[in-house]
Amino acid sequence: MNISIIGTGYVGLVTGACFAEFGVTVTCMDTNPHRIQQLQSGELPFFEPGLLELVKKNIQANRLHFTSDLQQAIDDALVIMIAVGTPSSEDGSADLSMVDHVAKSIGERMNGYKVIVTKSTVPVGTADRISEIIRLHQPFPCRFDVVSNPEFLREGSAIEDCLHPNRVVIGTDSPQAIAIMKDLYRPLYLIETPIVVTTTQTSELIKYASNAFLATKISFINEIANLCERVQADVQVVAKGMGLDNRIGSKFLHAGPGFGGSCFGKDTAALIHLGESVDSPMHITRATKHVNDLQRQSMVEKIHTTLGDLSGKTIGFLGLSFKPNTNDIRDSPAIAIASALLDHGATVQAYDPEALEEACLSLPALRPCHDPYEVVEQADVLVLATEWNQFRQLDLPRIKSLLRQPIMVDLRNIYDPPTLEDLGFSYISVGRTPVGPPASSEAANLSVGRFVGVLS
Ligand code: UDX
Repeated sequence: MNISIIGTGYVGLVTGACFAEFGVTVTCMDTNPHRIQQLQSGELPFFEPGLLELVKKNIQANRLHFTSDLQQAIDDALVIMIAVGTPSSEDGSADLSMVDHVAKSIGERMNGYKVIVTKSTVPVGTADRISEIIRLHQPFPCRFDVVSNPEFLREGSAIEDCLHPNRVVIGTDSPQAIAIMKDLYRPLYLIETPIVVTTTQTSELIKYASNAFLATKISFINEIANLCERVQADVQVVAKGMGLDNRIGSKFLHAGPGFGGSCFGKDTAALIHLGESVDSPMHITRATKHVNDLQRQSMVEKIHTTLGDLSGKTIGFLGLSFKPNTNDIRDSPAIAIASALLDHGATVQAYDPEALEEACLSLPALRPCHDPYEVVEQADVLVLATEWNQFRQLDLPRIKSLLRQPIMVDLRNIYDPPTLEDLGFSYISVGRTPVGPPASSEAANLSVGRFVGVLS
């Protein structure tokens, strides 16, 4: 089967490479000719573990092609997947202008039966909207079906998520389209992947409800973490004790600086907007978003409470991407926190294994470093903001000897408090009692809650 994927962002490119890996002939189309040239020569526009190898392998096998010619992408394919961006508009709703443009182009060029699939996260009703646009622009009436088939991949583990998904959701009422989509996903039958077949509206909502629910788990545990700090409880043990209940599950209960990335913020905003537009308010999702904004702010307060006045202080800062194994800094809590520290007059010396360049473009005042040890040279504190694996194995005595004072603020709880205490650190984490000597006498006199405004 020949399929085309319109848009070579995260979702489009990973989906294209994975379907090619399943044995399907895939054409990935993007209007950006530079990006297409890059991809044709086996270069990726972003970092994702395993993707480069998969792309190269499938180019060589002649199953993966790239083009900037939309006509070619449409003509050759029975299935056309739309994987273009759906960014947030001012009011929080998803901006569908790119989806609309692709639908119009498909309509204008349609020359026979096609299945049009939405892979991007799109609001409920988008499949109907695409059908309408295609119908309006067809040169002559021609049968087609629109299917909602949301993608659930996570950055950093996108290939694994795509090749071994927990489930596949197919939204359409057309038996022919269902048969074609099931054929496309045939390799997953071997690993008994559940397939949910439903209406387009339900399928579209499954994606938003899933992301909002995951975001809610994070905000919930972060609120519990803040409570733990007040009552001398340990959020990691609370999360473990909760997560062992099968009905709750242990995933997405890691306390930290709050969620970020290209999806959760945008999708929670879109769900809130959708609820408002049909007079069905999303109270829980609204609270989830609010708690997430407060969490970033309270991380800055934590550093402030530890160090005292931030002006003139040097902060060693590890991790800038929104999560490990990606160079993506979109809506990264680390960037928001680093930016606030700079605003308060601190010098921020930072390192990230993949996102340093992107971060320095976004925050030119950052002082880039080559490794975690340069970061702590003459610094007043080490702040750990993103949990890259390489930060889990730091040479702590060396870190201690390079810091001006042995203070670590671990926003991802990757270290064990007693170990850091034994090494002589003041160790402050999230939702756990700080250990070690009080960080500074100036800080001891500070009260929390001095920062106002929400970080984004
Ligand atoms: C998310 C969804 O998981 C995925 O299904 C969807 O397709 C796209 O959005 P992604 O944004 O790549 O994927 O990353 P994810 O692993 O979900 O993490 C999102 C954010 O939540 C990160 O900032 C991460 O640090 C944070 N997080 C996650 C926590 O703070 N605690 C957790 O327990 C889990």
